[in-house]
Order: sequence, then structure tokens, then C-alpha cells
Amino acid sequence: MAQVLTMPPRPAALLSFEEVWVEYGDKVVLERVSLQIAPQSFVSIVGPSGAGKSTFLRLITGQEQPTRGRVLMDGAPACDEPGPERGVVFQRYSVFPHLSALDNVAFGLNCAGSPLLGRLFGARRRAVREEAAAMLEAVGLQDAREIYPSQMSGGMQQRLAIAQALVRHPRVLLLDEPFGALDPGIRLDMHELILGLWQRHTLTILMVTHDIKEAFKLGTRVLAFDKRRRDPQAPHRYGATAVYDFLLDRKSPLGVLSEMEAVQDIVGIAPSFDVPL
Ligand SMILES: Nc1ncnc2c1ncn2[C@@H]1O[C@H](COP(=O)(O)OP(=O)(O)OP(=O)(O)O)[C@@H](O)[C@H]1O
Ligand SMILES: [Mg+2]
Repeated sequence: MAQVLTMPPRPAALLSFEEVWVEYGDKVVLERVSLQIAPQSFVSIVGPSGAGKSTFLRLITGQEQPTRGRVLMDGAPACDEPGPERGVVFQRYSVFPHLSALDNVAFGLNCAGSPLLGRLFGARRRAVREEAAAMLEAVGLQDAREIYPSQMSGGMQQRLAIAQALVRHPRVLLLDEPFGALDPGIRLDMHELILGLWQRHTLTILMVTHDIKEAFKLGTRVLAFDKRRRDPQAPHRYGATAVYDFLLDRKSPLGVLSEMEAVQDIVGIAPSFDVPL
């Protein structure tokens, strides 16, 4: 009897951008962005300054609304407030300077458990602090629980920001140039950390970077944003879109160098050579 082969179901898109435009008056920032992001992908986003990369991330958190088109998460419109399923880490300043490391991480959980007071008591408070301590350990800050951000190096602050974003178990982690201000050696440590967290927490990551090598090293997919058309008389007339979209196969890294050159041509920035592939 003929055997019936069942195909594994194709993973549905976690995020869908459908003909998305972002405009401020007559200034077009993004135009006709149409793409889908699969769950558990690691998407690196590159592009020249002002191409709308941060705007693209803000569409996912709901901080920015498309002027045309739709952004969907699990098939439903991405809502106004960044919910717990979307964690964000910026290049700098995403931690609270007046809170210790432990309190910084516990803060999000406190608010989730007691939105009006932002404070918890008794057994629930202990559980939150234990969870925050475990998250600090996961990012290598187990010995820094009681210190404040001003007493930390840039790398430690970014670890703290990542712990703060992850403690609420987001499905999507948005990173906006998270390692741009860090020394090369520290950046390599952060690469290991983020790849480990991505796998252990089955996250979907979208990361903006100016470093093409970093984009190709970490990503399973590389998107480059740029304008397809330009009007020298009216530079604001046209917006940027994803002009390059490349799926990386980690098993066959051959060809990546030529892809990096292609991206360099689009983006107009040379890959920095302090991040080995
Ligand atoms: N509220 C606003 N009003 C008008 N223009 C805006 C506003 N917010 C952003 N823009 C414009 O949108 C464009 C895209 O900005 P965005 O910050 O997304 O770029 P980016 O690619 O992240 O740049 P960078 O690499 O420098 O961080 C810029 O030209 C910016 O001036
Ligand atoms: Mg930006």
C-alpha cells in the first residue's frame, strides 16, 4: 500500500509586515515594507543611518503606527503598548540608574504582579527576587546583584538590560545596536551570551547593527534597509524598504564573504574587522 507522506507544517509567521508605510507629513521614512519573520529566527538588520531601522523596530513594539499597511504579530495587529511578549534592549540607557541590578530586573516582574503599586510583599516578593537573581546569573551578573548601573562597565550594563528584557519571558527580543558602544573583546563575549540565550529561551531576535560582520555572524537572516529610489531635489519624497534579504545557512558558510560585499555596497559602510566570523 502506498505510504502517505505527511509534510511537517510550515511554521506560521510570527510577525508580518503588509505593505507598511511610515510617513511624517510629506517625509516618507519607510515605504511598502512587506516581509514575514519566522518564529525563532535571528534577524540582523543593517542599513545607512536614517534608513528607518529603529522605526522598523518601533513598529513591532507598537510605539510607532504604520500610516499605511499593517503589522501583525501572530496574525493580530501589534498593539500600542510593548507587552511582555516583546522585550527591547537599546544601545544605552535602558536600565534604571537609581535601582540596584537585582531591583532593575525585579522591577518588570513587580509591575507585572502588582501594576498599581509596583511593589510586592511576602512570599511573592521572595519568588520575584529569586527569579531576578536567576536571570542575573544567566547573564553572568551573579556577583553584581547589589551594585548600581553607575558602578558597572558598559558590558555589564548591557547584560543587565538583557536580563531586564528577558525576565518577563518575551517571545521576541528587539536589540537596537546593543553592542555598538562596547569594546571588541567584550562584544565577542556578548555574542556568545546572546546566541546562548537565543537558543535556551527559544527566542525570535531582531537586532539592528552597523557592523556587517556582526550581522552575518549572529543572524540566520540579514535584512538591509535602503531607499530604492531617490529624488535629489526632494530627499524626503521616498522612503526606505528592505532592499536585501538573505537567509543564512550555518552549515555552508561559503559565499558569505561575497554576500557581505553585496551588503557593504548597499549600505555604504565597510565591515569592521574587529569581529572575527
Ligand atoms: N517624529 C519624527 N518626525 C519626523 N521624522 C522622524 C521622526 N522620527 C523619526 N524620523 C525620521 O525617520 C528617519 C528614520 O529614523 P530612524 O531612527 O528609524 O533611522 P535609523 O535607521 O535607526 O538610523 P540610525 O542608524 O542613525 O540609528 C530619520 O530621517 C528621522 O529623522
Ligand atoms: Mg537607529
